[in-house]
Amino acid sequence: MTILSSGTPALDVILARLPAGLREHLARARDKAVELAAMHGADPFKAGLAALSHDIARNMKGPDLLKMAKSYGLTPHPVEERVMVLLHGRVGAEILQRECGIDDRDVLEAVRWHSTFNRGLGSVAKIAFLADKLDHKKVSRYPFLERIERLAKDDLDVAVLSFLQEEMTAMMRDGKLIHPASIDGRNELLELQKSI
Ligand SMILES: [Fe+2]
Ligand SMILES: [Fe+2]
Repeated sequence: MTILSSGTPALDVILARLPAGLREHLARARDKAVELAAMHGADPFKAGLAALSHDIARNMKGPDLLKMAKSYGLTPHPVEERVMVLLHGRVGAEILQRECGIDDRDVLEAVRWHSTFNRGLGSVAKIAFLADKLDHKKVSRYPFLERIERLAKDDLDVAVLSFLQEEMTAMMRDGKLIHPASIDGRNELLELQKSI
């Protein structure tokens, strides 16, 4: 059994209630986030905490996520109303802030947008996004992970952009809805690459 300790008792209680497979994913994501933070001069505590807590709402059912988002005063985007699982980052960030007393903006934005990404995110959020995706158990879902992992060692932006391009191409091919935050995030990274 993977025992996760965040240093915040209320969060530890929530983590302990998660299914074993999810706890193991969070432990792997935390380790990867700390490793990436060290490589890129980011705060390892914030990156580790964001990655450790990014999926605290992941095991909630879609309709419950929607209900909870509304009870927190969030306005779900029409895409989130159709693909309710996309709300687990926004709802998770609210739980972290309201129930665990975590107020760090970098950690909260990292959890909020770990699923879709978004524009205007800092390095902690980029690291948490990549640490979630670079879980080796996701190789069958994302066959291009090894390449993203190599890119992530050199440049977080290039790695995130490359991941988004791959994922969005596959989603368009499969006729899936794409969250506008992903499009905004990709556009920003693309502009950044062009301006270098
Ligand atoms: Fe997630
Ligand atoms: Fe995750």
